[in-house]
Amino acid sequence: ALTDNTIIVVLGASGDLAKKKTFPALFGLYKAGYLPRGVRIVGYARTKMDKDEYHKRQVSYIKIKDDDTKAQEQLKEFTDASTYVAGSYEDGAAFDELTKHLEEIEETYKGGQVNRVFYFALPPSVFIPVSKNLKEHCYAKDGDNRIIVEKPFGKDLQSCRELISSIRQYWHEDETYRIDHYLGKEMVKNLLVLRFANIALSSAWDKNSISNVQITFKEPFGTEGRGGYFDEFGIIRDILQNHLLQVLTIIAMERPVSFAAEDIRDEKVRVLRAISPIEKKDTLLGQYVGANGKPGYRDDDSVPPQSNCPTFAATTLYINNPRWEGVPFILKAGKALNEAKVEVRIQYKDVTQGIFKDISRDELVVRIQPKESIYLKLNMKTPGLQMRAFPTEMDLTYQRRFEATNIPEAYESLIRDVMRGDHSNFVREDELDHAWKIFTPILHWIEGKDGQRPTPVSYPYGSRGPKELEKFVADRGYKRTTAEYNWPISQVS
Ligand code: BG6
Repeated sequence: ALTDNTIIVVLGASGDLAKKKTFPALFGLYKAGYLPRGVRIVGYARTKMDKDEYHKRQVSYIKIKDDDTKAQEQLKEFTDASTYVAGSYEDGAAFDELTKHLEEIEETYKGGQVNRVFYFALPPSVFIPVSKNLKEHCYAKDGDNRIIVEKPFGKDLQSCRELISSIRQYWHEDETYRIDHYLGKEMVKNLLVLRFANIALSSAWDKNSISNVQITFKEPFGTEGRGGYFDEFGIIRDILQNHLLQVLTIIAMERPVSFAAEDIRDEKVRVLRAISPIEKKDTLLGQYVGANGKPGYRDDDSVPPQSNCPTFAATTLYINNPRWEGVPFILKAGKALNEAKVEVRIQYKDVTQGIFKDISRDELVVRIQPKESIYLKLNMKTPGLQMRAFPTEMDLTYQRRFEATNIPEAYESLIRDVMRGDHSNFVREDELDHAWKIFTPILHWIEGKDGQRPTPVSYPYGSRGPKELEKFVADRGYKRTTAEYNWPISQVS
């Protein structure tokens, strides 16, 4: 673990990711005493800025209550520990300037090894030159060096391999932390405990009991403002190929021998290797159109007027191993939908016919966000004189059960893991390779590499998604709970 004498360098410090995620997470950790003692934070980006301007940007998304004077003091310490260097990403000499600044700071440290952690909050176009320049100009000789990188890791199997092998010339796998921030979410981390610490669940965790699994991501806003970026990637690369697939592997993997990073990641890779590439027939694509005063996807000036880029996708993956053979894993994600919600829904099979008829299926739902919760839908006798089964729920809502607990932000949890040198919640090279193998064929089809580009179906901004979705999931075995069932979970405070 990195304890003393550590500098965290945030590259791309003037950008959105740094402002919205990296700095708030660093401050959250700082406040809680989880950053190395005497840590210094150095921003680097092209924009020329003076100290005040930089600090203003740095704290612009950090929220502190007006009456929290302790946090205000800590924020002052945090900015006092933060400095900024402007320079280009391509030019080695600019990185020498950065090193000069790092060395000045390190002179104030009282001996011992010095550590440098480099956080890439950068556009993908500069990943390679920055990796090279950091290694050649900024690498600490007597200490630990780490890089933190974020998606996009390429656009398909080939470009991912190229990117990885270029970075590998400069940085070892051990020094590299690839973020998929879904792995830092509390409920995603909880999946390992939920599955492997509970015999009641783990004994029915396979094709004998489970009919289908859905992993769903819904966002209530569109791509306004980042349409240009999004159009190049689309919802599959933005959400399914990384975030939802990561959740799937944890749901489906075998029990790791230990919690050690390589043990966990070995099991995840084993699941990925058993998944065949997704087929066109198992894919439903959508794109939102304007409705209720909200603009459609193509109304954005930065989006080509004829774009066929999907803003919604549902796909089905099959895992060819004895545990999961034949069980559809449905991944769905969409922008501009009716609500914000990420959840895993495991639907069990019907009970055999006989004493019951037409009763609802059991379901285990893990709500990743918002309002973290786990609930199990079970049939109960309706209270009263009749003997009828009725769907109900056993509900573990975190806000109620763990009232005083503050759930950390995903980025806080992950940056802390980097400091501790724990790779378990980061994406290993071979995981990426297999993830791209699964998705590359449909991505190429969407881009017209097989001939004509498929046209996504349209759905109105703010709706539940394409109307074709209901049939899509029903065709893959999902049975909706009886219409009488209505549990207003969203009203839980
Ligand atoms: C990012 C995507 O990786 O995840 C965004 O690029 C998306 O499009 C975001 O909005 C969602 O993250 P979260 O943590 O808000 O669910």
